[in-house]
Amino acid sequence: MNEAIYRPGLEGVIAGETAISTVDGGLLYRGYSVEDLAQHATFEETAYLILHGELPTAAQLGEFRCRLAGNYSVHRNVIEALRLLPAETSFMDAMRTAASLLAHWDPEAGDDTHDANLRKAERLLAQLPVALGALHRFRGGREPVGPAPERSFAANVLLMLRGEAPSPAHERAMDVSLTLYAEHEFNASTFTARVVCSTMSDLHSAVVAAIGALKGPLHGGANERVMEVLEEVGAPGNAEGWVRAALAQKRRIMGFGHRVYKTGDPRARFLKPLCADLARDVHREDLERTADVIERIVGEEKGLPPNLDWPSARLYYYLGLPIELYTPLFVVSRVVGWSAHAVEQLDHNRLIRPRANYTGPAARSWKPLAERTP
Ligand code: CMC
Repeated sequence: MNEAIYRPGLEGVIAGETAISTVDGGLLYRGYSVEDLAQHATFEETAYLILHGELPTAAQLGEFRCRLAGNYSVHRNVIEALRLLPAETSFMDAMRTAASLLAHWDPEAGDDTHDANLRKAERLLAQLPVALGALHRFRGGREPVGPAPERSFAANVLLMLRGEAPSPAHERAMDVSLTLYAEHEFNASTFTARVVCSTMSDLHSAVVAAIGALKGPLHGGANERVMEVLEEVGAPGNAEGWVRAALAQKRRIMGFGHRVYKTGDPRARFLKPLCADLARDVHREDLERTADVIERIVGEEKGLPPNLDWPSARLYYYLGLPIELYTPLFVVSRVVGWSAHAVEQLDHNRLIRPRANYTGPAARSWKPLAERTP
């Protein structure tokens, strides 16, 4: 094998082509900066852009919203199966199961044409928050709350979790976070989805596998670990000592560092002021101060800037959401990116099958059972 093309973790390796997004010089979805989209577009417009390639016209957006509203209905057997999961099941494992269950009742599960995959993607987009809402409500011994089709996607996510319609500020915070999480080039979970599709497997299988990849703490699971860090640190006065001790013990500080962004994650920069606004509303400026101290020390000691999971964990916390929902909320949004990549992979498919440098023993002769020693 050629050593020159091997990079641990595939760092810097170009593993395919995409027209969906780029992280070169900032994050662009289909050519639009994520900051512009988060500032001016709704999550529905962004999802449409990522899935269909162009920003929707007013008529297309209206139709898309109608299709989402129509797709909110989830077969009762899916909801009942989710109710039967053991109480200790993690929400990410339950979301993986939910995506798989949804396939069984999808009318086009066996149709892997471009158009059918886009329709399936839109159904998953609408149905995963319904599943998450049901899972969360069951956990608290309550019945699911149905969506309000006339409301926005972000408002419905909060409505189905909290049981009441959100304020405009909370709706906007959720909308922005969903936009920022929606797509991110060849990250681990998206690449997983593309590998699955490259075998000509189906969209739901790709999403199930992607959820498994997202769950890990080095990827999507980091947003839950961030909140655990902030809770462990406690008050702003503890932050500097805590970080220096953690770094001395070679601990990773969740929510910092990124494989591609070495000078800062544009999504984290965008979200920080929104986070500070929400913190003021719920009188948790102390948590922002703690976060600022941690940010400063990690920067000084390791030169690592925060990634999106750093402010988004606090944002969800200020929205009053339990920590175990944070990574599932990432799923609710990133299903858009995964689906667009699955469709793109299948449109220009070639099996993804790299090689490995072999590090095992050299060829050896067969040893009969009686001659083997431990
Ligand atoms: N805290 C402390 N040290 C770190 C961190 C961190 N968060 N991130 C990297 N390092 C150190 C690491 O220990 C290593 O140091 P040394 O060379 O002394 O051994 C060096 O930086 C390089 O680390 P790496 O793991 O080879 O770098 P990478 O490019 O593979 O790291 C990363 C990317 C995201 C896995 C890593 O920064 C990390 O583990 N961050 C914490 C988890 C996290 O926040 N993940 C969310 C990523 S962004 C959103 C998403 O995709 O989900």
